[in-house]
Amino acid sequence: MAKQKLQYVCQNCGAVTPRWGGKCEACNAWNTIIEENPGAGIGGASKRMVGKGRVMELVPLEGETPEAPRILCGIAELDRVTGGGFVPGSALLVGGDPGIGKSTILLQAAALMAKLGRRVVYISGEEAIAQVRMRAQRLGLADAPVSLAAETSVEDILTTLEADEPPHLVILDSIQTLWTSQVDSAPGTVTQVRTAAQAMIRYAKKTGTTIILVGHVTKDGQIAGPRVVEHMVDAVFYFEGEGGHQFRIMRAVKNRFGPTDEIGVFEMTGGGLREVSNPSELFLGERKANNPGTAVFAGMEGTRPVLVEIQALVAPSSLGTPRRAVVGWDNSRLAMVIAVLETHCGVKIGANDVYLNIAGGLRIAEPAADLAVAAALVSSLTGAPLPQNSVYFGEVSLSGAIRSVTHTQARLKEAEKLGFTLATAPEATQDNSSGLKEITINSTADLTGMVARIAASAPQREA
Ligand code: TYD
Ligand code: MG
Repeated sequence: MAKQKLQYVCQNCGAVTPRWGGKCEACNAWNTIIEENPGAGIGGASKRMVGKGRVMELVPLEGETPEAPRILCGIAELDRVTGGGFVPGSALLVGGDPGIGKSTILLQAAALMAKLGRRVVYISGEEAIAQVRMRAQRLGLADAPVSLAAETSVEDILTTLEADEPPHLVILDSIQTLWTSQVDSAPGTVTQVRTAAQAMIRYAKKTGTTIILVGHVTKDGQIAGPRVVEHMVDAVFYFEGEGGHQFRIMRAVKNRFGPTDEIGVFEMTGGGLREVSNPSELFLGERKANNPGTAVFAGMEGTRPVLVEIQALVAPSSLGTPRRAVVGWDNSRLAMVIAVLETHCGVKIGANDVYLNIAGGLRIAEPAADLAVAAALVSSLTGAPLPQNSVYFGEVSLSGAIRSVTHTQARLKEAEKLGFTLATAPEATQDNSSGLKEITINSTADLTGMVARIAASAPQREA
């Protein structure tokens, strides 16, 4: 009898090794390698199946391609992130921390779609039927014709789905609970998750059903185990938000049918997730007048301009190595802005603790925020509040010059719409401001000019 072949799989990155080890050579994670039996599921197909292939037809690149039809789910913010609705036959992965609201938003989407006359199946592997029903009641959606099941066996799910007309949408909550008897590993292991996802995706492609898989996120923010699943699905969305805040952001990190920098903004309320169609008002909601250390950044999230408040606190340090704490922005980017301020503008921040926070729990990745961060830092250090009516954007280069950024017009328009009358922005911005009457542009070629302006308005301190 052939010896049963075992393999060792890293639960972090999915790398397969022939031997167990304490550390995964591929991703350097410790204690993540687990013994798994691949069985016949993956790469374990028996020799009999390897036969002669058939001749397939090769076609030219050019040809008829009907525009993928889209199914709108009725939640505008969700339709925005998906790139204009669900594409039939596609598989989506929604990841996020436990308790962030994945099940809630998907149940809301399922119910709305069902009410629009689509066939929707919601399969919960984590909650009992009663729990899902209770949530639906709380959301006021109990009357939606969603087909519900609490099930974890892939075989049972597929048999059930295949027995009837294929639904438009199937939601599987969550992929970690799915389990197939094709492989011997325990549920939640990489091999199980991968095989289960494969089976479900195959079903989606075959029938034209859209599949949404829910994935848990590990401590370090990755979808647990199935990094591999991210490669298999058509789109990956992260549902995120700061613990203490009500805002939730659905962010596309991969999308074969749409842009990846789009976000959908929601607010968690007692009655489920509510769409926020004008995020700027939300992120600027509680601004106080004349606070030193706050600057309004005119940013972009995908195609949408979003104004956010950047808060900085520069305080004398009692430590040998001053603290740098950043929430919502890049640590090394802050270090860079501080270095440029010190070197080129004579601003002495070095011995102080620096705290930087993006209001509302938003996370900013744009370099265009440099200028707003610099303004907030200088304002906090000098105690000079920035003008109430002013927004900031621009990338700071290492030489201290301000570089122009994209979407200038959209940023200015949004600022104008919300009543701002002054924009501190890169020099080239002037040409872009046509058609904007209310807003004056304070163009800055380098950081020194802006710093001098802020410092000049500082209250005189006693020596
Ligand atoms: P849930 O969708 O279960 O999160 P996930 O599936 O991502 O783990 O969300 C649960 C949280 O949402 C829970 O902490 C309570 C909160 N919540 C509300 O605030 N309002 C509501 O109407 C609902 C249904 C949940
Ligand atoms: Mg859940």
